Amino acid sequence: MRIGMVGTGYVGLVSGTCLAEFGTEVICVDKEQSKIDKLLSGEMPIYEPGLDILVAKQIQANRLSFTTEIADAVKGSDAVFIAVGTPPRRIIGDADMQYVYTAAREIAKNLEGYTVIVTKSTVPVGTAREIERIIREENPKADFDIVSNPEFLREGAAINDFMRPDRVVIGAETDRAKEIMREIYRPLYINETPIVMVSLETSELIKYASNAFLATKITFINEIADICEKTGANVQDVAKGMGIDNRIGSKFLHAGPGYGGSCFPKDTLALAQIGEKNNAPQTIVEQVIKVNASRQRKMAQKIINAFDGNIRGKKIGILGIAFKPNTDDVRDAPSLTIIPILQEAGAIISAYDPEAKKQAELQFENLEWKENPYEVAKDSDALVIITEWNEFRALNLKRIKEIMNGNIIIDLRNIYKLPEMKELNFHYISVGREEILPNQSDKIKKAS
Ligand code: UGA
Repeated sequence: MRIGMVGTGYVGLVSGTCLAEFGTEVICVDKEQSKIDKLLSGEMPIYEPGLDILVAKQIQANRLSFTTEIADAVKGSDAVFIAVGTPPRRIIGDADMQYVYTAAREIAKNLEGYTVIVTKSTVPVGTAREIERIIREENPKADFDIVSNPEFLREGAAINDFMRPDRVVIGAETDRAKEIMREIYRPLYINETPIVMVSLETSELIKYASNAFLATKITFINEIADICEKTGANVQDVAKGMGIDNRIGSKFLHAGPGYGGSCFPKDTLALAQIGEKNNAPQTIVEQVIKVNASRQRKMAQKIINAFDGNIRGKKIGILGIAFKPNTDDVRDAPSLTIIPILQEAGAIISAYDPEAKKQAELQFENLEWKENPYEVAKDSDALVIITEWNEFRALNLKRIKEIMNGNIIIDLRNIYKLPEMKELNFHYISVGREEILPNQSDKIKKAS
């Protein structure tokens, strides 16, 4: 078995490397020679825990190789995966398919013998059939089948998600194609991973429906958190009480500053577009998109409100810029919305993120980058946790309190325990939980 992987972005690189780990020969193609050179020298284009080690291991084992020539990856391969980007188009928000279709044409020109063409990128319903049409048009004699095989990898946990998935979804229509796909995923049979064999359109929709559902779940609990804040209920306990019910499930019920990243914002928008195009409006998802956008702005207001509406001249230390922990990805991160609003209101911002500085530097103006959380806390009037990196959970809060100028902690990820914050006498504001007010002596310190 030999696999060609077109695109060495997040999905292509992780999938290609993990398929090589399954024991298959994989050739990854990318147009940029410099990117390939970096990969070969062990430098990863993205931060993903464990990926560098696995790439090196598979190169060493001669199962993983890289090329800039698409022909090298297509000729003689049993399956060619398309894993190029589908970024949202400006203004409309639907997926920009130009890279996928260009890849399809280039693959078509190089097909030799029976090949399965697999879409791994998240693509709108109907794309697999369009790719099939393009390939036939480009190379009428080609012997191929088209398959949809969406990925469900989470950034920061992608390798584990690939190696131990909850399920593998395969949209395929011929026995020959199904057989090759079963062969590719054979190592997962040991864990009895469910393989969901469906039609092309169903497979494409499963991906969007899954991401949109998870985005809806998050948005739902975020709005419940608002009720908690008004009524004295505790959102973590509400989520726990709900999540124990198997029909609901406990995952993705963490209230926070709104979802971000390269997938949920893009895929919810694309699903709304697919609904509109097919005259099947996705009103719930449309509402989720609106609520999530306003939530991120609302979080900035929450911080300003901690200073009774006037944050001008206040030093605000930000912990966490990436859209979630264990990634350097800042695409659609809540921090990108929150920080500029605070700056607009006159706040002076310093920040620390364990990995995202390089990706984020160009996104912000007048932001002072620090080397660790304590430098951020020093002399700050408030500390704001936007991303729940593990190292923030283990901070020495006593020390933090001593070096801060003020005593306000705004925790948008609920990483600290309320009794501890009470004990330490912080003014502690979290999401969907009781606000802890400091005793009088600390208030005087804050005012002075
Ligand atoms: C998401 C899906 O979880 C993957 O299954 C999917 O493969 C991927 O998109 C994709 O389409 O490529 P990812 O964007 O890496 O993965 O990150 P998630 O862990 O899903 O988090 C997304 C956002 O939701 C983050 O901003 C996170 O902070 C937020 N979130 C997540 C919450 O606010 N609360 C939660 O309970 C869970």
